[in-house]
Amino acid sequence: MRVVLASCDRLPSGDGDEEALVAALVRDGVDVAWQPWGTPVEADLVVLRTTWDYPDHLDEFLTWCAAVPALANPLPVVRWNIDKSYMAELAARGVPVVPTTVVRPGEEPVFPDGEFVVKPAVGAGSRGAGRFTDHAEARAHLESLGVKALVQPYQSSVDAHGETALVFFAGEYSHSFHKGPMLAQGLAEAESGLYVEERLGSIEPSERQVALAEQVLDAAAALLSLRRSDFLYARVDVVTGADGEPLLLELELTEPSLGFRLTTDEAASRFSKAIQQAASRA
Ligand SMILES: Nc1ncnc2c1ncn2[C@@H]1O[C@H](COP(=O)(O)OP(=O)(O)O)[C@@H](O)[C@H]1O
Ligand SMILES: [Mg+2]
Repeated sequence: MRVVLASCDRLPSGDGDEEALVAALVRDGVDVAWQPWGTPVEADLVVLRTTWDYPDHLDEFLTWCAAVPALANPLPVVRWNIDKSYMAELAARGVPVVPTTVVRPGEEPVFPDGEFVVKPAVGAGSRGAGRFTDHAEARAHLESLGVKALVQPYQSSVDAHGETALVFFAGEYSHSFHKGPMLAQGLAEAESGLYVEERLGSIEPSERQVALAEQVLDAAAALLSLRRSDFLYARVDVVTGADGEPLLLELELTEPSLGFRLTTDEAASRFSKAIQQAASRA
């Protein structure tokens, strides 16, 4: 069985977080290799991992995704998830999400009271995300982005508590990790050009956070006419709302970092098993 972990030219062998996963796949007898996206692939399954430069080459990336033998997550999932406007669809399904409005280029934005975030609808690694109170500055940022964007009230709990990332394999909860706040005032700076450096740690989620993450995955699966178990991998990022209840900040079904360095090797073994099941079905 041959599995390709898709990366990008800037990070051809990933960012180091997936060493435990590669080790688990090798231990399980899988022929596993990293390969930057963009060139022809031979594999039973291609698993999107550190493909983080695609926001600048979206059409090319999706064309390549459509051409590979078997993709995880599957192409319809990627197409839906790559555009953060899904936040509005999940909200319409009754999922508690960070309030989100979508602003298309040329549209007059309506900004929330107080601090708010403007970020590109298609984006990764916090690139292009900015935190504003001044409407003129936020408008200038929207214009400089020149693409569809999201506007959300800034969730001040992020300053104190960051966000919790809950990781699922084949629809089953695996593990969690913690991410510190990413946005100072103004615009996040991506020194690497690919992503803003993250401060990560270990954390145990609350029952309510796990329940929200399951609700998010079930709602997303229903919107896509799939089952939750059809998501080979998923990361649900939650923050705490003003009332203390968890809110969805981001659902990552495309190329999430999965925090293997922050958990036990069992997480990597679980992912290895799920990958093999998906590859044998593909
Ligand atoms: N509404 C918000 N309130 C507080 N912080 C936010 C908000 N939106 C984004 N952020 C911060 O910006 C980071 C990047 O935004 P996110 O929506 O996760 O996009 P991505 O990780 O895909 O770039 C988050 O990790 C968080 O620290
Ligand atoms: Mg994020």
